[in-house]
Amino acid sequence: MEDTTASDLDLITITQLRQVANQTPQPYRLHLQVESRIEKATSSGSPFFEVKLVDASDSFVWRVFDNHPLFQDTAKLTRNSFIQLAGQWVDGKYGLEPRQVQMRAEHVAQMIRCAVAIAGVYPTLNRDLMIAGVLFHDCGKLWENAYAESGFTMPYNLTAEMLGHIPLGLELVNKMWRDMLDTPAAAEWTLLEPASETVRLHLLHLVAAHHGTHEFGSPVLPKTPEAIALHHVDNIDAKLEMFRRAYETGKELAPGIIEKFMPWPVNIVAPLPAVNLFPVKS
Ligand SMILES: [Fe+2]
Repeated sequence: MEDTTASDLDLITITQLRQVANQTPQPYRLHLQVESRIEKATSSGSPFFEVKLVDASDSFVWRVFDNHPLFQDTAKLTRNSFIQLAGQWVDGKYGLEPRQVQMRAEHVAQMIRCAVAIAGVYPTLNRDLMIAGVLFHDCGKLWENAYAESGFTMPYNLTAEMLGHIPLGLELVNKMWRDMLDTPAAAEWTLLEPASETVRLHLLHLVAAHHGTHEFGSPVLPKTPEAIALHHVDNIDAKLEMFRRAYETGKELAPGIIEKFMPWPVNIVAPLPAVNLFPVKS
């Protein structure tokens, strides 16, 4: 199954799949999170994986045997990684089961690709600082959006309510920086240029300023080229992802017109197909 075919399949939830699945294979795709992956063996000693997959609605266990084309890929799945499973689904002997399945890891790397591309166009930008900023800009969300051990419920917590992810991110970066300074390797860093202390401040500034305005929760406005670039990289990736999801799941009011959705204030319109007459070589 080619990737274009997989992306044409209807995207549904586990609960919806349970309602429609039977013995006859049916084509769908699901966005899932890996809750656990356990390696087991059959009575004849052949290895297989039991992968517990969850979405916001439900969960199921996918058993992947060693003769499955995705057995090696499954071995690389880590807890909490996001995947798309697209294929023919049946409600079989082992419950919900995808056949002729295709798996695609969903990466948080899109922002890094975008930051690296922009650093290529504006070579005076500090690319390494941009990448560090992408990696750490929302790290406080590890505390702000603390999901429960199982499932997708997100309980309220005082830390998130009272601080928010930007102050938490600043604290985390500072803590990690201090911990690194306590390692023997840090003795040589006193000779580095620019000084580590200055780099720390620039990275903290990226975290602090990435929302772009006081109104959206940044305690300071962007004051360096990397800070303003990171703010826009964050914004463009969030907005384009929002549009992508709306085209997939939004309500079509008329051909090519999709109903407005939160937080977007207006209806949106189907785009022209992507055209790359002059692909850029990477
Ligand atoms: Fe943020």
